[in-house]
Amino acid sequence: MNIADLTRKFGGNGISFEEFHNFPALRIKNEFATALVSLYGAHVVEYNIPDSAPVLWMSEKSLFTPGSPMRGGVPLCFPWFGAPPEGKSGSHGFVRNTMWEISAAGIAPGGGNFAVFYLQTDDFELFYTVTVDRQLTMSLEIENRNVSDFHFGGALHTYFNISDINNITVADLDQLPYLDAVTGENLIQQGDLTISGEVDRIFTTCGSTRIVDPGFKRIIHIDKYGSNSTVVWNPWIEKSKRMPDFGDDEFNTMLCVEAAKVPRTGDGGTVHSGVPVELRQVIRVESNC
Ligand code: BG6
Repeated sequence: MNIADLTRKFGGNGISFEEFHNFPALRIKNEFATALVSLYGAHVVEYNIPDSAPVLWMSEKSLFTPGSPMRGGVPLCFPWFGAPPEGKSGSHGFVRNTMWEISAAGIAPGGGNFAVFYLQTDDFELFYTVTVDRQLTMSLEIENRNVSDFHFGGALHTYFNISDINNITVADLDQLPYLDAVTGENLIQQGDLTISGEVDRIFTTCGSTRIVDPGFKRIIHIDKYGSNSTVVWNPWIEKSKRMPDFGDDEFNTMLCVEAAKVPRTGDGGTVHSGVPVELRQVIRVESNC
């Protein structure tokens, strides 16, 4: 559907449509915040609240071409996390590189706005609801289209915009077990996480996390549901240089905190026939602190 048709069908009351790098995108604009979601990947590419720096980060070097994921915002990783299973190709699944449809959009029951993005394959149906009110809620509902169980991995792979990687801390991870995906070791987190090198950790937790950012005078609260793995990722210097769609110095101002399902650490998802499964992440920014 083109922008004019989308506008006719879903526009008004805080919802409008525009092009974002040649893909149609849905904009939500209300008294709480603005957000932009590309139909390519149902990818949240912007989330801005008044009087604060952009909450999400997008690389200056990101590709915006069919077949490639965007580097920033919230790539929706599904139906696998990380390296592909045998016989498949591409990191983090294919739905982030697929055009989605919109099935509904409008005013959210408690105020603010929502939009539901839809994707169907032979194996599964996805309903992805993005709600913008006092917080940003991203809820992925997964339905199994077959009789046998459907197994998956995935993530709401959120790239946060931070003032300075040397000054932020990630709180609420103390004493949690994690797989260090850089070294392959299983370790226990000691204290808050500060970052001074490549970090790629898969924490076993269904709890909340906070990014404490004194430079931007804010705390980003990240709550989740349906995930027992929180991934924290920053590529640091060498890996940044190796990634063609990532600027050499950009690791200074981004941090990924991801609500994930990771089969390799025992947290793979299973969807029984007729029983939908939800993966949700909620982002709330506490400003002036
Ligand atoms: C993270 C992984 O979730 O995503 C990292 O833990 C990976 O290992 C990163 O490098 C980026 O992945 P991609 O496929 O978007 O380059």
